Amino acid sequence: MNQPRRVEHQLTDKGYVPVYTTAVVEQPWSSYSRTDHEVWATLFARQQQVLVGRASEEFLRQQRAMGMSADRIPKFDELNPLLRKATGWELIGVEGLLPELTFFEHLANRRFPVTWWIRKPEQLDYLSEPDLFHDLFGHVPLLMNPVFADYMAAYGRGGVKAHGIGPDALVNLTRLYWYTVEFGLIREAGGLRIYGSGIVSSKGESIHCLESEAPNRIGFDLERIMRTRYRIDTYQKTYFVIDSYEQLMEATAPDFTPIYAKLAQLDSFPAGSVQPGDAVIHRGTGEGWLDDGDV
Ligand code: PHE
Ligand code: CO
Repeated sequence: MNQPRRVEHQLTDKGYVPVYTTAVVEQPWSSYSRTDHEVWATLFARQQQVLVGRASEEFLRQQRAMGMSADRIPKFDELNPLLRKATGWELIGVEGLLPELTFFEHLANRRFPVTWWIRKPEQLDYLSEPDLFHDLFGHVPLLMNPVFADYMAAYGRGGVKAHGIGPDALVNLTRLYWYTVEFGLIREAGGLRIYGSGIVSSKGESIHCLESEAPNRIGFDLERIMRTRYRIDTYQKTYFVIDSYEQLMEATAPDFTPIYAKLAQLDSFPAGSVQPGDAVIHRGTGEGWLDDGDV
């Protein structure tokens, strides 16, 4: 397989991350190896099983609607007509993580960047940066849902704005993305379910986030989330729970500019803390938590 083109390492609030060329690339579908397709097949089949009764019904429904299967790595060109028709989004191929402003501009214009390369067989359980499996399996199904699709585009516009306001605003906004798009839970008729992409693409965390006693599970609260640090190297200490995708859309509709100004005067919260006023669904036991390393 070809190698992704890394341009530099950049220090962000997530630590040093590799930043790749901003180029949009054609998905090099015919150069995927048999091993690449097997990695996809293994992860796909495994998560299909794990996510029954755990993932949001809407995620599972949209995943079926998109027709992704274990057989082979999907072609972006085959998914795009469906996605365009459903919500006006399209997938673009990229080498990996993009500079923040570039990423926001794509989202604002309903382009979702998908890393074209897939992890190696020895990385099935953990990878420190997004790959094709995380991006495609994890993020794309909910882009078929009109409300969630609008939320993602609004986030992109909000990101462009926050980037203009300054680094503190960006930290606040990134926490919102982390605790919703990447690690969000939703309350559905069947109980708590997963919609966050960082969870649905991980077998271990799919089970941990719902079944472990260790983490906090707390009702969604915009400013609370924007003040809360998070983990990049372990399972989350806290998960925030929405009641519906509409709630997410409505809670994030107001202009964040005054909220950023207010939060700039306030301290952040450790990842695992419970605060007065929290709508506690489950107070975590904290078992197995590392004391340091919240970002
Ligand atoms: N309302 C936000 C702002 O004014 C934009 C936004 C919408 C951000 C949805 C995130 C999610 O910045
Ligand atoms: Co992601």
